[in-house]
Amino acid sequence: MDLVLGIETSCDETAAAVVAADRRILSNVVLSQIDEHRLYGGVVPEIAARAHLDHLDAIVAEAMREAGVGFAELAAVAATGGPGLIGGVLVGATTGKAIALVHGLPFIGVNHLEGHALTARLTDGIDYPYLLLLVSGGHCQLLAVEGAGRYRRLGTTIDDAVGEAFDKTAKLLGLGYPGGPALERAAEAGDPARFELPRPMVGKPGCDFSFSGLKTAVRRRVEELGDGLDDRARCDLAASFQVAVAASLVDRSGRAIEVFEADHGAGRPFVVAGGVAANRTLRAALAGLAERRGMPFVAPPLGLCTDNAAMIAWAGQEKLALGLVDGLDFRPRPRWPLDPDAAPSIGAGAVKA
Ligand code: KG4
Ligand code: ZN
Repeated sequence: MDLVLGIETSCDETAAAVVAADRRILSNVVLSQIDEHRLYGGVVPEIAARAHLDHLDAIVAEAMREAGVGFAELAAVAATGGPGLIGGVLVGATTGKAIALVHGLPFIGVNHLEGHALTARLTDGIDYPYLLLLVSGGHCQLLAVEGAGRYRRLGTTIDDAVGEAFDKTAKLLGLGYPGGPALERAAEAGDPARFELPRPMVGKPGCDFSFSGLKTAVRRRVEELGDGLDDRARCDLAASFQVAVAASLVDRSGRAIEVFEADHGAGRPFVVAGGVAANRTLRAALAGLAERRGMPFVAPPLGLCTDNAAMIAWAGQEKLALGLVDGLDFRPRPRWPLDPDAAPSIGAGAVKA
């Protein structure tokens, strides 16, 4: 039983998990810091780093206890090595290295985005290659996933990440924090046809995304409504925003399917991953697209879409199988693109994955 301990500390979740090479998740412990950041309406990097430092040892101990194994039984320790808030990444990576050093285990620095990207292989056991839509707080990318460590970026956002757009729009509407889930809840009670909002990039060439115009359009409606921004209007605006995002993601993904299939043929899986993939309306819209194009649709269970350490342990398993282990001199990095050949994205909030 080859077991990998995974550690995730790149944003506001302190997480540890033990995952076996045969895809069994023996433990998956996630401590959210939401309450510590709520007062500020967003993640405060310094508070996040200190909270990771306070809690990580207990979270790792809990993950080991739940898995019912000792450190000596592990095959390796994997920790997020970036991209993310560097203070938190340093806490996780240094802890991972210390455990590896003390117990004589290999250490593996994992790209957080690779954790999201490979989750569908952990949950559904799919083979390479597949088309991935990665939608999170810091990223919005379409990638051809050709193997562990082999990614080709087909599209990215030219301004805000999609999760960022959810969070900012929720703030504009006064829906509270964290914004994505709050906006989804409000939208459930709303009429998506009441407000006509732009459908960003729909019909444009290429596979890139843009969300700042949509956010501005919501702001304008809020200003026009003034005192008329009651609960009804909030829910209707949330629902209108959500369908505009869905239309944009479906249009962009549809174009990426064409590019992907030119290289890899038809019928490969279409995978959605990252925190925003927890949104049910978006999942349904993307599942519909996959069905129309004859592609199996894979979306991880909600708890494995948002940040967790099982995905880091699994990416560690894949790297271990390829012999891709790191030394204790591994350097954590705030930026770490999956496709190093792709041009840097303009203005994308790359600190949060
Ligand atoms: O991947 P993730 O957990 O963290 C990183 O960004 O690394 O993604 C978090 C993002 C946040 O922007 C959050 O608002 C968004 O995912 N999110 C959602 C939902 N749940 C989380 N967005 C829309 N609908 C949701 N249900
Ligand atoms: Zn993430």
